[in-house]
Amino acid sequence: MSVGQATAHDAARLHVTGQARYVDDIPAPKGTLSLAFGLCEIARGRIAAMDIAAVRAAPGVVAVLVAGDLPAANDVSPSVHDEPLLAEGEVFYLGQPLFLVVAETHLAARKAARLGVVSYEELPAILTIDDALAADSRFEGGAVIWQQGDASSALAGAPRQVQGQIEIGGQEHFYLEGQAALALPQEGGDMVVHSSTQHPTEIQHKVAEALALPMHAVRVETRRMGGGFGGKESQGNALAVACAVAARATGRPCKMRYDRDDDMVITGKRHDFRIAYRAGFDDEGRVLAVDFTQYARCGWAQDLSLPVCDRAMLHADNAYYLPAVRIESHRLKTHTQSATAFRGFGGPQGMVGIERVMDHIAHALGKDPVDVRRLNFYAAPADGAGMRISDKVKPQETPYGQPVEDFELHGMVEALLASSDYAPRRAAIAEWNAANPILKKGIALTPVKFGISFTLTHLNQAGALVHVYQDGSIHMNHGGTEMGQGLFQKVAQVAAQAFGVGLEAVKITATDTAKVPNTSATAASSGSDLNGMAVKAACETIRDRMAEHLAELHQTKPEEVEFEGGEVRIGSTKLPFAEAAQECYQGRVSLSATGFYKTPKITWDRVKGRGRPFFYFAYGAAVTEVVIDTLTGENRILRADILHDAGASLNPALDIGQVEGGYVQGAGWLTTEELVWDGKGRLRTHAPSTYKIPACGDRPDVFNVALWDAQNREETIYRSKAVGEPPLMLGISALMALSDAVAACGGPSSSEAIGQQGPYPALDAPATAERVFRAVQRVQA
Ligand code: MTE
Ligand code: MOS
Repeated sequence: MSVGQATAHDAARLHVTGQARYVDDIPAPKGTLSLAFGLCEIARGRIAAMDIAAVRAAPGVVAVLVAGDLPAANDVSPSVHDEPLLAEGEVFYLGQPLFLVVAETHLAARKAARLGVVSYEELPAILTIDDALAADSRFEGGAVIWQQGDASSALAGAPRQVQGQIEIGGQEHFYLEGQAALALPQEGGDMVVHSSTQHPTEIQHKVAEALALPMHAVRVETRRMGGGFGGKESQGNALAVACAVAARATGRPCKMRYDRDDDMVITGKRHDFRIAYRAGFDDEGRVLAVDFTQYARCGWAQDLSLPVCDRAMLHADNAYYLPAVRIESHRLKTHTQSATAFRGFGGPQGMVGIERVMDHIAHALGKDPVDVRRLNFYAAPADGAGMRISDKVKPQETPYGQPVEDFELHGMVEALLASSDYAPRRAAIAEWNAANPILKKGIALTPVKFGISFTLTHLNQAGALVHVYQDGSIHMNHGGTEMGQGLFQKVAQVAAQAFGVGLEAVKITATDTAKVPNTSATAASSGSDLNGMAVKAACETIRDRMAEHLAELHQTKPEEVEFEGGEVRIGSTKLPFAEAAQECYQGRVSLSATGFYKTPKITWDRVKGRGRPFFYFAYGAAVTEVVIDTLTGENRILRADILHDAGASLNPALDIGQVEGGYVQGAGWLTTEELVWDGKGRLRTHAPSTYKIPACGDRPDVFNVALWDAQNREETIYRSKAVGEPPLMLGISALMALSDAVAACGGPSSSEAIGQQGPYPALDAPATAERVFRAVQRVQA
């Protein structure tokens, strides 16, 4: 068995010894030039004059390109062609590329890029959500509204209500490897591009457009990324296109990598959101209706903002059945970086909204938030284990009409409450808080239900190409990309399993648009679901051909041929796999095949907001305990306990890695990672000195992570579940634990009688020390 084994990442050794090759490590041909962008210094206006004489004259500069020098399309948008590579008169954000410097070295290019003298006619910039609302600056006409039931009358009739608002900051991807590309001009005008991208086909498409070439003249290769996290779905387009046009202009190979500060200033981040809510509920805390208004700051270009905002709406329920719900979504256009995909793709923001509502309701009722959460969970499926609802229940529907048939959280939360000693710890924390005036502790459990599939239905397809060589070694290729998540390893396990050989027999190869065409971005956590199935199909085609030939040769039936333990058993004969491959080659059997997969069952009408956008849901739950210093707001995560559902895991070691990393990244987003723009639209937090991602020391002292042992109810690859994004949202428990700790500053703990508790903390995210401090002050006042 190869599938299900907890094997190490295929490149783990290469990663830790520094031998893994990223784009910038590929030995570049002699004469390779380096590129840098000259950047816009204002947030909005028109370029009055651009003097680049000093740039051209700078040492080592070979060429400087402006918009008018581009051979064809000046566009790097992944959606609606609204994103010029180089500005054309109008400028839309501070950091927008204006001109492209091509120089002998990386340093020469960067130094020269600073020498441009640009004067602007400045216009008033729309920077914040409030600015955008005041100016009615938005994508998609007006607000998008989806509803189910009559939320406003259900709200009016509800015995109790809460309302409020939460600000949720954005997030910098902070992939360790910055954006990078290398273009190698070929004979006859063709182009080969190495790109650190989650989406090689998109790079191929944009480079072809920029060079006015058919897609067949452009080949894109991606061996690996040093992290992508959604930030390399579309944001690598500019570098790849810049390299290709410069390579075309100079006839020399061209390479571009952003310095960290440039990367942070130029590229898009997670959308920051404001979510206003009104919720109606009964005296027990059962939600009767919720009304959400989601405001998303999308930045200057559309990029992927529409589907991101859709996914925020699609996760406004998280794990809870909402009998009546109205969700209004505002996609606001601002003069800031174009916000983009980031692990969870809007889902996390939507989920923070409803988790905040649950927390607020529990506070209003003086109940343990866990009880309110469980009370509102979707009903368990009829055959579900650990369900609390008797007999056969019809699956409840999400606000968009998808029946929740696979709800795992009743059993999972039960198990997690027990394994994390939630109840005794909660009691101990209340005691501790009563005795300690300065330091306060808090604890929270939050669940995750995350929908798996691209909401744009046609993206849910994948292809693979597999060769078996005559020595029995296997070359495996598919459309997915490797960004550290372990996709290649998982898919190699699938291939090894299909041929009954060891993992060492399978060569993992770089993603290549010439091997597998028309691929989707490796995104939406669907990498292993889609590519695993495509590779399995390709392997099975070859295996069936081999079985047929070997059966005939050894006078038995194809059903009598088995591939296992590195051998092929043909009736009573046993051959090493290599010999079997050799026999098939001698017998003129084709040992190469493509595979294809498309996700079944999904349908989605995004205008109406109805359908089954997701093949299935992935689940998880986390309990986080924190301590805060009420005098400074400083805080720490003391302990985190996680139970996560990866279905029948393809590789528990990799999946646990995804869960740990996802949780820490989610907690970082909601606690320490703060993006600050000044009143001129300049990003002031553009380096690790001012933007604080979690470091090793921020890891919870006690960190217990386990996988929930249950198969996917849907027929996915070996009944596994996607695991890339969902665990990020486990980090919401850190924000809620901080809220709990702050609430403890305001009076008796929430286990006391109704009406006794202090004001609701209404803690915004990221809950930095400053915000925690201010919330403590509010609550104590
Ligand atoms: N894990 C690592 N180590 N590095 C990454 O860049 N990206 C995340 C997630 N896990 C990422 C990661 C995101 S945003 C997605 S969509 C998935 O991995 C993509 O890979 P998958 O579909 O194979 O899970
Ligand atoms: Mo992940 S945000 O879907 O790249």
